[in-house]
Amino acid sequence: MATKEDLIKGLNEDLAAELGTVIRYTYQASKSYGLMGMELRELFAEETQDELGHAAFLTDVIVDLGGEPTTMPKQFEKPESIKAMLELDLEMERQDVEAYMAHASLAEELGLVELKMKLEEMAADEAGHARELRRILKGL
Ligand SMILES: [Fe+2]
Ligand SMILES: [Fe+2]
Repeated sequence: MATKEDLIKGLNEDLAAELGTVIRYTYQASKSYGLMGMELRELFAEETQDELGHAAFLTDVIVDLGGEPTTMPKQFEKPESIKAMLELDLEMERQDVEAYMAHASLAEELGLVELKMKLEEMAADEAGHARELRRILKGL
């Protein structure tokens, strides 16, 4: 049986991942050179706004549930090539989709309908990010 504490723990892992992604995309935007880099900087800037929104939402929810939101970003690898960078991002976005779907189920078990739907929406946002990354990776 899922508990509120399980959910808070899960959402804090999601929050750490979002904070890490904001930093990762900001870092990667600066490390993207050349013409391809120009397109990537735009994409990263756009997606960073989504991730910031996700982080803010999670922070509010964790507080509302009586938890303490983390301020520690998840650490990430720093591959040199653009291709390896994007492959890492794609894998991270996929992991985020899985985590949000798992935590949406947890929220549903606890009867938190709005949270369940919002987490599913965030899973869909991450799936959209993954699709964009796949599209760019196809051209590399
Ligand atoms: Fe996100
Ligand atoms: Fe994302």
